[in-house]
Amino acid sequence: MPPSVDRWAGEWLRTVGLVRDPRAEPILQFVDHAVAWGTLAAFGPFRGRGKSTEGALLKFAASVHRPRELLQLWRKADVEFASRVRALASGADPTGDIAALDALMAGAQDGELATLAALVRHGIPPWHAPALARRRELSGEDWLARWLARQATRPPLWLRVAVPRHTGAVRDVLGLDGLRVVAQDSGALAVEGPTPVFRSRAWKEGKVEIQDLASQRVGEGVPLGAGRFVWDACAGTGGKTLQLWSRLDGRGAIHASDVSPARLAELRKRLQRVDGKNVRVWPWDGRGPPTLPTEVAARGGFDTVLVDAPCSGSGTWRRRPDARLRSVPSSLGRWAAQQRDLLLGAAAAVRPGGALVYATCSVFVEENEAVVAEFLQRHPAWSLEQDQLHGAPDADADSLYGAVLRREAK
Ligand SMILES: C[S@@+](CC[C@H](N)C(=O)[O-])C[C@H]1O[C@@H](n2cnc3c(N)ncnc32)[C@H](O)[C@@H]1O
Repeated sequence: MPPSVDRWAGEWLRTVGLVRDPRAEPILQFVDHAVAWGTLAAFGPFRGRGKSTEGALLKFAASVHRPRELLQLWRKADVEFASRVRALASGADPTGDIAALDALMAGAQDGELATLAALVRHGIPPWHAPALARRRELSGEDWLARWLARQATRPPLWLRVAVPRHTGAVRDVLGLDGLRVVAQDSGALAVEGPTPVFRSRAWKEGKVEIQDLASQRVGEGVPLGAGRFVWDACAGTGGKTLQLWSRLDGRGAIHASDVSPARLAELRKRLQRVDGKNVRVWPWDGRGPPTLPTEVAARGGFDTVLVDAPCSGSGTWRRRPDARLRSVPSSLGRWAAQQRDLLLGAAAAVRPGGALVYATCSVFVEENEAVVAEFLQRHPAWSLEQDQLHGAPDADADSLYGAVLRREAK
């Protein structure tokens, strides 16, 4: 499996000379649909004639543990597979697989089997069943059903309005540039339209940033108390750094770090565009606590630290359907180990009484509640103020987890 279907498709179009060719559009769409519906399309032949859905599902799950195995099934099915994908993408249920899986979900006594049926019915590979069953245990049957239903569609492109009280005026400017606002959630605007956001005046003038709604909610939940020395430890290209900078509105000081020099270079560019002062950018590789800047060390640490940790990305499957095929359960333990290390290293940089925010764009309990619970168990000077899953299924967006932890004041 290539690292990203989008990137792979772009490169392939270049090699065959189809970039900007109108014929490329249906090809890209098919690839997208195949990725989104491929699991369900590959399940069909297992059901066959006269076989029980339950038996077929168990056999299918037992045959498909890795992306490679799913790809083999796709290749074997060939033309028939393509026609199934097209039908499913247009909302049809040509072989009755959806109806059969729905019936199984409704009637299953066994919760694990019901989860498996729900996943395959929504085009999610069966190897995610154990992790999503754990999410169902915590968030409920209804949460999982609504979240799976969301996976069939891409969320809109969300913009964060830099100064929320200017949202009305920004809407007008976007409209003049050919971008239609299709949804609004306080200072967050979802847009559609032929103009790339990067070409709009609102973006060029730093009035909006591209940032998913759930990510905006996590950023809003970062406590910015009196001291306002803030460290964004896994800043990436700075989606949340810019939001925190906006929220501080010239007060306090933000420090932003990442392990990737390329991402930090991009963050610097973004800061320049908005004339972002009071942001200091420095590398951190996550191996142990950072060396605190002198003025921060003098105060005993940062007031607030955000760890927006690298993760499986299961909360962004709606935008990158291929990620659900690339992510496998065996990688969950590795993600969680890295997340634990980052949280621990970053926690050492928080002053007594300060706040530590832990976030991921995953819905898996192993990467979220379990990481936080283990940290709290080992570090009694810390307590959980609140934690929450943001975005989908409640909103038409990605799904992100955010937890606010507080260090005891000495
Ligand atoms: C979820 S992304 C951050 C997204 C960013 N906060 C935003 O809002 O746009 C996770 C980031 O963690 C960084 N990362 C990965 N391993 C790291 C490590 N060992 N130390 C510090 N950062 C790391 C990645 O380079 C990536 O940019």
